[in-house]
Amino acid sequence: SADQPTTPSSTTTPASPAKEQATVLAEASRRRSFAVISHPDAGKSTLTEALALHANAIREAGRADGKAGRRTVSDWMDMEQDRGISITSAALQFTYRDAMINLVDTPGHADFSEDTYRVLSAVDAAVMLVDAAKGLEVQTMKLFAVCKHRGIPLITVINKWDRPGKDALELMDEIQERTGLVPTPLTWPVGVGGDFRGVLDRRTGQYVHYTRTAGGTTIAPEEVMDPDAAVAREGDAWTTAVEEAELLADSNGDHDQETFLAGQTTPVLFGSAVQNFGVHALLDVLVDVAPSPSPRVTVTEDTRPVEAPFSAFVFKMQAGMDTAHRDRLAFARICSGVFERGMVVSSARTGKPFATKYAQQVFGRERTIVDTAYPGDVVGLVNAAGLRVGDTLYLDKKVEFPPLPTFAPEHFAVMRAKDVSRYKQFQRGVMQLGAEGVVQVLRSDLRGDQAPVLAVVGPMQFEVAEHRMATEFNAPVSLDRLGYSMALRTTKDWVAQLNEQPGVEVLQREDGEYLALFPDRWRVTSVRNRLEGVVLLEDEIFG
Ligand code: G4P
Repeated sequence: SADQPTTPSSTTTPASPAKEQATVLAEASRRRSFAVISHPDAGKSTLTEALALHANAIREAGRADGKAGRRTVSDWMDMEQDRGISITSAALQFTYRDAMINLVDTPGHADFSEDTYRVLSAVDAAVMLVDAAKGLEVQTMKLFAVCKHRGIPLITVINKWDRPGKDALELMDEIQERTGLVPTPLTWPVGVGGDFRGVLDRRTGQYVHYTRTAGGTTIAPEEVMDPDAAVAREGDAWTTAVEEAELLADSNGDHDQETFLAGQTTPVLFGSAVQNFGVHALLDVLVDVAPSPSPRVTVTEDTRPVEAPFSAFVFKMQAGMDTAHRDRLAFARICSGVFERGMVVSSARTGKPFATKYAQQVFGRERTIVDTAYPGDVVGLVNAAGLRVGDTLYLDKKVEFPPLPTFAPEHFAVMRAKDVSRYKQFQRGVMQLGAEGVVQVLRSDLRGDQAPVLAVVGPMQFEVAEHRMATEFNAPVSLDRLGYSMALRTTKDWVAQLNEQPGVEVLQREDGEYLALFPDRWRVTSVRNRLEGVVLLEDEIFG
């Protein structure tokens, strides 16, 4: 029906290779896959609903379909039900103009973790959503670091302009100072925060006047006016907007596609998700400037062109609907070729075949069977117990994408088997969780193999690990949190001396890196002062 997310049309007759390549190229070039990066409460859920509304994916953007609804949805994993929040992420697909848009959900809030970061390996662009009153907040900056590392182009949306907030020019300065990106606003607000009348479209010089609708649950009418009409209507508010926009043109310049794609500039839009202001503009910008899937770097060949035979990589695993059968769902991002449900693909890690009999598109409560999908799309593969996060899937000749990066952990816990006779199962589980990137596994001679330290970005991962150790590996564990909050890379030469420092401990990660754990930044500073020349590398992102 009209309010379901659209599935790509399926090709029923087998096409010739050349014809199929042409189809894949055409489908890939109309794909826009992106994620929203933001701090909790900036309005991501509201914006998602508004985008879906504009794309006619859902008829009415109401809270019932949104966050509140999602919170009760996840009956997939017992733990999720207990917590009452979603620890999963998936993709919403909809058409807009001629484009097929994939919005890949980034888990946020309390479930901020490795998965939140990894979603960014599955997208080609990101929308940085900023609360106009708060500016750039902690989680936004963390996610920004990942985007920067991966070279993902960023579109900035200043949200909640209907409320008093920071000054627009001040916000532009903040973005430039903290991200290093030069903001190149496409629209500029008419009316200060709290008195949002519309925007000046800097590309056309015209005024887009917004009209409020009750509760923002329907698409807000937009009226486009010439500058003369705008000044007559808005007076000083219009004149100020024009002056500020001119100031900006001198200092920051206009949108430039090349520098945007190179991660040097960011187009900026102003809006109010809750009132549906500026949402239409965002969709247009996604279609007009966000990149479509491009050839991907591999470790087996140079790059994988999008029209090459099917390839994808798994960026997220999730316990399936039926925990009794230990069903697992693998979320894979398609990198090349056409995906057809039922095709048998291979996993680059194991060389084993995987039958894609069941493939789904999942977003919140909605689940649609996917028959055909193209580069940029995300599919949820059912019965994927043999797959892991980071796995490459391919058809025909073997291809393998580079491993997913690991991230600087902030939470640490010692894990021990509750039942020492289940040591073998325990070790198998630890290895698997480490290999999947669910947790980072750290060891030291001092602690021994029976008590590895798990290191994570989000503490939620501890519960995932605990749950899986018990249910999947039959090795119930206990976890004891450690008082560290930072891990810095060091070298073997410094291990002994660092271990002598009070409150500091060095462990080795499975990839061989030595990580020095610290309780706080203050201790890092004091150790740096005490040990001259000590190697302590502080990366936002490892790997
Ligand atoms: P999140 O997913 O990023 O965490 O944010 P969410 O959309 O849940 O929005 C957080 C709060 O901010 C919500 O208010 C939401 O209504 C509000 N909000 C989102 N966009 C805008 C906007 O453009 N303008 C204004 N003024 N508010 C906005 P809440 O009080 O937590 O929930 P509710 O009772 O309003 O639904």
